Amino acid sequence: MLATLLISAILGLSQPPVVPVVEEGIKGYVPSAAVVAAKEQFRDDKFGVFIHWGVYSMLAQGEWVMHQQNVPYEEYSQYPGGFYPSRFDAAQWVRQIKASGAKYITITSRHHDGFSMFATKASPYNVVDATPFGRDPIKELADACHAEGIGLNFYYSLLDWGRDDYPRGDGNPKADYAHYLDFMCEQITELLTQYGPIGCIWFDGDWAKIKKPEEGKDLVVDFDWGYERIYKLIHSLQPSCLVANNHHRVPIPGEDIQVFERDIPGENGAGYSRTSHISQDLALETCKTLNDNWGYNLKDPKWKSVPDLLRTLVSIAGRNANLLLNVGPGPDGTIPAGSVERLAAMGEWMAANGESIYGTRATLLKPQPWGVVTHKEGKIFLHVLEMPENGTITLPFTLKVKKGHVKAFGSGTPLPFKKTKTDFTVQVPADADCSTDYIIEIDL
Ligand code: GLC
Repeated sequence: MLATLLISAILGLSQPPVVPVVEEGIKGYVPSAAVVAAKEQFRDDKFGVFIHWGVYSMLAQGEWVMHQQNVPYEEYSQYPGGFYPSRFDAAQWVRQIKASGAKYITITSRHHDGFSMFATKASPYNVVDATPFGRDPIKELADACHAEGIGLNFYYSLLDWGRDDYPRGDGNPKADYAHYLDFMCEQITELLTQYGPIGCIWFDGDWAKIKKPEEGKDLVVDFDWGYERIYKLIHSLQPSCLVANNHHRVPIPGEDIQVFERDIPGENGAGYSRTSHISQDLALETCKTLNDNWGYNLKDPKWKSVPDLLRTLVSIAGRNANLLLNVGPGPDGTIPAGSVERLAAMGEWMAANGESIYGTRATLLKPQPWGVVTHKEGKIFLHVLEMPENGTITLPFTLKVKKGHVKAFGSGTPLPFKKTKTDFTVQVPADADCSTDYIIEIDL
């Protein structure tokens, strides 16, 4: 394992490339009844918390530190010897995360540094065997999640900055993708057999440039990772486990969730997306950071405000998608106070307003300049994020609604409305506070 990060930097293992590609939509994949039901549950949940935590957390510069600081693998691989998160308490994490109103947790089981944060027989480079901590935090988290009734998902990196068999294209003669794929399948099997029911396996790193073993030294972006085998394995080990892949492309057969990285679906806000396609057949999920980093970063004070975070959640729900909001616990194993506070404040809002988010869908009307619309059995919710012109919202369809059934959510104050054969107009009160989300409930 002699590859240095310098080499990988030269060879293009950089942040996701932005290469527009035109691809065909998903074909030939018929999700099982278990997957269909799990997707509906996932859509109902609407809000999850992402956890980026690993050896890199000790260095406090985000999860890309090995690559960005050109730390040679021989040196980086010594760091686990100092990993002892003495304040790690899975039950506390779960309490803090549950307080936000999140319904599931997605944690990095193994990131690009290749270090496994779970007990694995497939490599000694793991948290139980290579650290003085010697515990399996994923097992502790799984037990706490199952006890508290919150879902658990695993992030899993395809990309690896250390292993010899990973064909990173540095001329390493031991590069052997078939061998690496066997290793990944062994680990995925462990992840799906050691920790009880898992909601989703969330892949990342597909966008890396890789050497095609059979074709000399060409570095390619659209490498054949052997997804058919991986996805079938997941669905066979746990039929309800969903497959997500942060590849920024049109989903391929076997995938159940389309992922948008730092991007409200359809906006390509971070510029990572290589397609404007949105697969409504799949569940949709946007992952976002709470400050500017995924992994713990000491020098990142750019915390987003609670109203901004809530508006993001609402905007995403209004695009029929889920928000996966990240926290990066520190080297001591605790979630930074700035994150805990924001999660708690979001939870307060969700406790009061979650009825208009959880279990809803957003397929009635596309996002409007004033906000978004969610709906569920017998109810429509207008989420007013900006005061509309003249204070009126006109929906391009009519509704059978009785007097008093259009009201301010929460207070229940009836709001005036007018209907014609073709549309439905609601008057937003002049003093409506849209700084977070002014919600109008329509009872059908
Ligand atoms: C990007 C980053 C990775 C991070 C992921 C989360 O792919 O490379 O470090 O884990 O985004 O969405």
